Amino acid sequence: MSSSHFGPLLLGTTARGEDAHIDLPELLATRLLVQGNSGSGKSHLLRRLLEQSATLVQQVIIDPEGDFVTLAEKYDHLVIETDTQSEASLRSAGERVRMHRASVVLNLEQSEPEGQLRSVGAFLTGMFEAPRAYWYPVLIVVDEAQLFAPIAGGDTSDEARRLSLNAMTNLMCRGRKRGMAGIIATQRLAKLAKNVAAEASNFLMGRTFLDIDMARAADLLGMERRAAEGFRDLARGQFMALGPALARRPQRVTIGPVETASHAGGPALMPLEQPNIPVDELRDLILEAPPEPASRPRKEPAAPKPDLLAQLDAYSSSRDAREQQQSQQMAAPDPETLWTLVAEAGQDEDAAYRPLATLYQDFQMRARLAGFSRNILPMPQFQTMLSTIRCGITRERAESEAWQDIQQRASRLPDDMQPVYFLLAHAAMEGKPCPDDAALARAYGTHSLGRARRQLTYLEKCEAIILQGTGRHRRIAIIGPGWQTASPA
Ligand SMILES: Nc1ncnc2c1ncn2[C@@H]1O[C@H](COP(=O)(O)OP(=O)(O)OP(=O)(O)O)[C@@H](O)[C@H]1O
Ligand SMILES: [Mg+2]
Repeated sequence: MSSSHFGPLLLGTTARGEDAHIDLPELLATRLLVQGNSGSGKSHLLRRLLEQSATLVQQVIIDPEGDFVTLAEKYDHLVIETDTQSEASLRSAGERVRMHRASVVLNLEQSEPEGQLRSVGAFLTGMFEAPRAYWYPVLIVVDEAQLFAPIAGGDTSDEARRLSLNAMTNLMCRGRKRGMAGIIATQRLAKLAKNVAAEASNFLMGRTFLDIDMARAADLLGMERRAAEGFRDLARGQFMALGPALARRPQRVTIGPVETASHAGGPALMPLEQPNIPVDELRDLILEAPPEPASRPRKEPAAPKPDLLAQLDAYSSSRDAREQQQSQQMAAPDPETLWTLVAEAGQDEDAAYRPLATLYQDFQMRARLAGFSRNILPMPQFQTMLSTIRCGITRERAESEAWQDIQQRASRLPDDMQPVYFLLAHAAMEGKPCPDDAALARAYGTHSLGRARRQLTYLEKCEAIILQGTGRHRRIAIIGPGWQTASPA
């Protein structure tokens, strides 16, 4: 999708010296795989992407090296140190992160390899299992993804590996519907589980030396293996870009500079830090009962430690205050732009069946992308405008007095009846035949035709419409303006 009035994210420059963009709404739908050998600039690239989108979309960063803690400092992301949390509390935190729309860095630096797998597995599972009402769009960046979705075992236990591989597979294969957009980076494509890699539709391929990695990259990109030889000659910070959110044909992109510094500036510069754990937690940590061997994953997460939850609560209230302040300083969009923003949030094929909260979040993100406050339109008004747009009316017609009257009448109906009512009113207003059951079902957000038909009886009870005839001969009159749908041809 190319959206003219959005400020797309600037990734860097193309070989021809033009701006290279990434389309954020498209990225959320189509995911990204970044590959390149050590030092090719993957973490730098992820940082660039995260910095550019930090104020636009919720971000969750799975950070094996503690690389992104500096980013968290600048953008007020919450840092969760995995070594001080139990698996159960991480799982619960994953769910709460979705509820609070909290941007977080999951810092795995101090956990040992098996703990890293368990932490990532638990946290992502919590995010994945969050109730439907919280399926807001979120970028989930996983650096060193081959650690969490390995093709074959290493030193870690089978159970831990299965836990994290499952979570990664869910993220990449089934996350989209839940608003979870995976962005994964790996040094060794050949070591990354195939089904996890295959779900990304966007690729940024950096310098690659090993033939086996190059061959996998060529396969994924659908290019000749010989053409992929060119990946050897890429300089640090250069990537071949391909995919719906990036470029239609492979294009070389040089990633631009970043604002925050990586603390992993090379081994020589790394201070030897002691883990900074308060004495109380250290005691818990040392005296904690050892995990039962080969225990099954717990179904219900145990009560998480209060400090993490308190942090999450504090995070969301300070974020809300910040946003309020911001929105007071921002311009409001003109009516046409607003209409377009709402339309784009609902244009997705399956949007009719997605929860309103999810669509509203998508709209808010698009508003921020276009340079407005995310609070330009309260949710009830968003819903009314979205239903209006979906019934097929033009903006000009929607502004007419007659339609304002219809909206007024709709406001007295239950929220979920609005779309069906608008659909009927629009057909009647235009003197068209009554929409069929499939159209009604779609408007109501159900796949059941029977349930859709029952809404008509309900609308009649509410004295919004008068129903005549059935099946193909069904006709509708709208109470108030008195419009009627046409007789079927
Ligand atoms: N586009 C760029 N412009 C300027 N410096 C860059 C760029 N890309 C990478 N660098 C620098 O090169 C070094 C290596 O980059 P980076 O850490 O991103 O590599 P990596 O691919 O993540 O490596 P590894 O797989 O070992 O983690 C860093 O010091 C980084 O700052
Ligand atoms: Mg890196």
